[in-house]
Amino acid sequence: MDKNINITLKVWRQRGPKEKGAFETYQLKDISQGTSFLEMLDILNEQLVNEGKEPVVFDHDCREGICGMCSLYIDGHPHGPDTEITTCQLHMRKFDEGATITIEPWRSAGFPVIRDLMVDRYAYDKIIQAGGFVSVNTGGIPDANAIPIPKKDADLAMDAAACIGCGACAAACKNGSAMLFVSAKVSQLALLPQGRIEAARRAKAMVAKMDELGFGNCTNTRACEAECPKAVSISNIARLNREFIKAKLQD
Ligand code: SF4
Ligand code: FES
Repeated sequence: MDKNINITLKVWRQRGPKEKGAFETYQLKDISQGTSFLEMLDILNEQLVNEGKEPVVFDHDCREGICGMCSLYIDGHPHGPDTEITTCQLHMRKFDEGATITIEPWRSAGFPVIRDLMVDRYAYDKIIQAGGFVSVNTGGIPDANAIPIPKKDADLAMDAAACIGCGACAAACKNGSAMLFVSAKVSQLALLPQGRIEAARRAKAMVAKMDELGFGNCTNTRACEAECPKAVSISNIARLNREFIKAKLQD
């Protein structure tokens, strides 16, 4: 049964991208373990506002594990100590009475801090803009339904499409690599006939944009896969490498 717990929070506070940040410590009392992690931060912010202090800035939107906006490094893990969930799906029952919880923003050169716990993830949007779409005429909905696609390919494409673009992969990687994200976005289209037409151009353009934006190289540490809230497999990285090499050989 859920209990009420008292916790200590060590929260990263930073007034702006160029300001120096530091941890600040806060005490919260009587937090129900049924509270979600973001609701707990709402309670903290209410407390701070009541004390005449600046609330903590953090990103969120759907709070249902869908949009990819929530992005906290909690006790050394992107999205916290649980597996295959986003920060917004984390609940306080994962923490014990008297726990000290450390909360930081994503730590990655590709995601500069905007303020406190909010980072700029526009870099991922730029990678999508470079090629993560289908621009050829694929006909209407009945046409798509009329094209037979092997179940195995459809399943793999859907698994890759589960990526919500949260950025935990780059934040977890010691090299700051965005390969899991890029490979998921390349794979979800490369596996389907509608995406094959532009597959070579897409793989080259998205990899080039990722490099240009300063994301690091993949050295197969698998930290991205371990921390991904949507269990995106690194087998997608192998597929991206194959797509990229094939495209270069065609050149
Ligand atoms: S691959 Fe996983 S960790 Fe990376 S952006 Fe997609 S959902 Fe987030
Ligand atoms: S707020 Fe949308 S995934 Fe967490």
